[in-house]
Amino acid sequence: MNEPLLIQARALHKTYRLGKVDVPVLRGADFSMRPGEWVAILGSSGSGKSTLLHLLGLLEEADSTSGEMWFEGKPVSGLHGAARNHYRNQCVGFVFQFYHLLPELNVLENALLPCKISAGLGWPAARSAARARTMDLLHRFGLSDRLLHRPRELSGGERQRVAIARALANQPRLLLADEPTGNLDARTGGEILDRIASLHRDGLSIAMVTHDPAVAARADRIVHLIDGVVQG
Ligand SMILES: Nc1ncnc2c1ncn2[C@@H]1O[C@H](COP(=O)(O)OP(=O)(O)OP(=O)(O)O)[C@@H](O)[C@H]1O
Ligand SMILES: [Mg+2]
Repeated sequence: MNEPLLIQARALHKTYRLGKVDVPVLRGADFSMRPGEWVAILGSSGSGKSTLLHLLGLLEEADSTSGEMWFEGKPVSGLHGAARNHYRNQCVGFVFQFYHLLPELNVLENALLPCKISAGLGWPAARSAARARTMDLLHRFGLSDRLLHRPRELSGGERQRVAIARALANQPRLLLADEPTGNLDARTGGEILDRIASLHRDGLSIAMVTHDPAVAARADRIVHLIDGVVQG
């Protein structure tokens, strides 16, 4: 039997409505990945790369009646409520260009947030194992001596490393990264990509949006978002 695709999206449409004007962004986009793949999504500014990533992560909804999506062979496009939250919290991890760390929480607390959310009332019982696992991740990202720092006390590269650790805290199979190095200088961005590449070698699947062909070149496969559809 063939191994199921990690993620498969078919015929996604997304239209934003601005006043009375419909702005179609995705016009029947297909996207799929095999387990363990690293795919770069290239496209000009405004082509809908972030929108596509948000749909894959169920952070936004596709137009009603449009498209279908499966994760590890199971349908996810119709998920609501707790099942949708479970997918967002456990199956995928999200990294943004501008980190989106919570300013009032320290590094360890930021990275632990997804574990805390998924544990809910069970957090007191889950806490110590989650803490140990997250400390390991932060150690791997060179942040062991920054655990009690607040985001404003970190460099951009350090903030992004915390954001990646947070995205991986619940051990998702798929990392969705939206221009994770877009706000960093070339050297710092390169270091972040080296760490992402090492996670990929350990089996993590990655869908990464980028403007930068040199960044995209590190992926296994490149797709282009043009005129609202994904072109190989
Ligand atoms: N919430 C929204 N409301 C209305 N229009 C939106 C919204 N979000 C995105 N758009 C529009 O959809 C189009 C695609 O946006 P998107 O952010 O997906 O592009 P992108 O490819 O990620 O661009 P960039 O490379 O600049 O990040 C843009 O024209 C944008 O103005
Ligand atoms: Mg974008």
